[in-house]
Amino acid sequence: MKNTKVRTAVFPVAGLGTRFLPATKAMPKEMLPVVDRPLIQYAVDEAREAGIEHFVFVTGRNKAVIEDHFDRQFELEAHLAERNKSAELDALRADLPKPGQSSFTRQQEPLGLGNAVWCARDIVGNAPFALLLPDMLILARPGALTQMIKAYEQNAGNVVAVEQVDPAEVSAYGVVGRGAGDNSGFAITEMVEKPPVGSAPSNLIISGRYILQPEIFDLLGQHTRGAGGEIQLTDAMQKLMESQKFTGVEFVGRTFDCGSKVGFLTANVAYALDRPDIAEDFMAELQKLTGAIPAKSG
Ligand code: G1P
Repeated sequence: MKNTKVRTAVFPVAGLGTRFLPATKAMPKEMLPVVDRPLIQYAVDEAREAGIEHFVFVTGRNKAVIEDHFDRQFELEAHLAERNKSAELDALRADLPKPGQSSFTRQQEPLGLGNAVWCARDIVGNAPFALLLPDMLILARPGALTQMIKAYEQNAGNVVAVEQVDPAEVSAYGVVGRGAGDNSGFAITEMVEKPPVGSAPSNLIISGRYILQPEIFDLLGQHTRGAGGEIQLTDAMQKLMESQKFTGVEFVGRTFDCGSKVGFLTANVAYALDRPDIAEDFMAELQKLTGAIPAKSG
């Protein structure tokens, strides 16, 4: 198989975010901040670090603010410039994809992740692409997608990031079977979406990062329903395994499943402690809260 460079990344951001209501009633869940950056920004940063040049967002109704977030805001820029806040201004500009580097399309019905990915088919075209689920926030250096690109350069085909979880948690995720190879690239033998506890092929879950060949779109276009009555990406990948190679990467890093409240809150703590500008003060507050150090009296 030809090993074409991965230039495009797809970000499915159409979900309703019902687990975070009422916060997500009028605001997309992908705009929830971890410290001071929205979740979606971390995914875009990770993709850019990995060499991605085109960013495709599959949105839905009430998601227009994501498009605004990745556009210039002249009033704000003028305000910062007037006050000589050049560091803030430069940081804002650095976060943006360059003109023409982003595309937006809509998933019209909530038919599942597989259907959201399929909605990007015309924009992606006949080329391999990265897929990042912004809910799964991964703190890693180098970034998880960068680690996967390395595996892709060595193995070609398709690459899926995986990690070990407690066996009791597997049924919330897609799970892979592990074949020959090491953590930086092993053969995936099977994939199953949300297996019942006890019947999963391993405790290696799919971590929401993929490098996929465009043939996946034909399979997703069959609109076959799977777990939960939804069109599942994992089912299409399992089918594509009949004709193409899938490599698993057990990346080095820590994932926070920001689709859950506890995961999201833990991410905020971890990312705050990872920030040199606030880590020390924040740690002091945490210690007071948790009783590790008694709060100063008076
Ligand atoms: C999706 C995928 C699943 C993957 C998970 C990671 O599930 O279908 O294979 O493990 O993302 O977050 P969802 O979270 O949409 O239920």
